[in-house]
Amino acid sequence: MRVDLEGKTVVIVGASSGIGLASARAAAARSAKVVMLSRSQAKLDQAAGTIDGGDVQRFAMDMLDAAQVERVVGSLGKIHHLVLTAVADELGSRAPIQSLTNEQVERTFDKLRGFVNVTRAAAANLDTGGSVTLLTGASAVKPPAEGFTALAAASASILGFGKALALELAPVRVNVVLAGVVDTPIHAATRDATKVWAEKTLPTRRFGQADDIADAITFLQSNPYVTGSVLTIDGGLTAL
Ligand SMILES: NC(=O)c1ccc[n+]([C@@H]2O[C@H](COP(=O)([O-])OP(=O)(O)OC[C@H]3O[C@@H](n4cnc5c(N)ncnc54)[C@H](OP(=O)(O)O)[C@@H]3O)[C@@H](O)[C@H]2O)c1
Repeated sequence: MRVDLEGKTVVIVGASSGIGLASARAAAARSAKVVMLSRSQAKLDQAAGTIDGGDVQRFAMDMLDAAQVERVVGSLGKIHHLVLTAVADELGSRAPIQSLTNEQVERTFDKLRGFVNVTRAAAANLDTGGSVTLLTGASAVKPPAEGFTALAAASASILGFGKALALELAPVRVNVVLAGVVDTPIHAATRDATKVWAEKTLPTRRFGQADDIADAITFLQSNPYVTGSVLTIDGGLTAL
């Protein structure tokens, strides 16, 4: 049995770019009511303009501002599916342990704090037949090289958060997508080199696309028997 997304409210935090935007597109294509959230209204407006048709709303919200999150998320009414993808300058806080600053560590864990803020604000309004999907990266289980201590720890924290949330929010289903290297603005500065690396190194011989991950998010929203899971979509990166 598959849960139909038609008419269901899908709220995406981090929807103005990359994986969040691809997930908004996928939900709109399935006739869901899509609510796009991120900090920048201008980015949201531009992103929403790339979605054909559908019932799409957008609101500026900083997930790190707990009061604002309470206000915005609290105003949305019933939420069937919540998708948390937001992250800012994730790769900017890489540094060898000797030079890792407390500020970099805090910034890396902003993602967890933001996910907590949003989930706390949404919990009472989540439909019991619905789901929460959290995004994390392969460094949670396979840190690539030096400089990833804080990022690996922050990424792994999403795995624990997701599992605990799956028990606490049941029967609302909670799952984590563990993504590999995906062609989004996160990699803008090194895109060409990363593409070459992915095509040469990964078992799938390709640079992951945001739609690959959006497809996994749609699966997790639609399958009523999956919760507490980590779905790895990484082109084989963690198998290397
Ligand atoms: N791309 C990859 O290779 C990759 C690999 C593994 C895991 N992931 C995970 O996948 C998720 C999405 O990554 P992505 O590549 O799609 O990133 P992205 O293209 O940079 O998009 C990040 C989104 O988060 C929003 N955002 C940032 N800070 C926010 C805040 N405080 N409050 C609300 N929204 C905020 C941004 O919009 P505004 O600027 O408007 O706020 C943007 O919409 C992340 O959790 C990342 O860790 C990505």
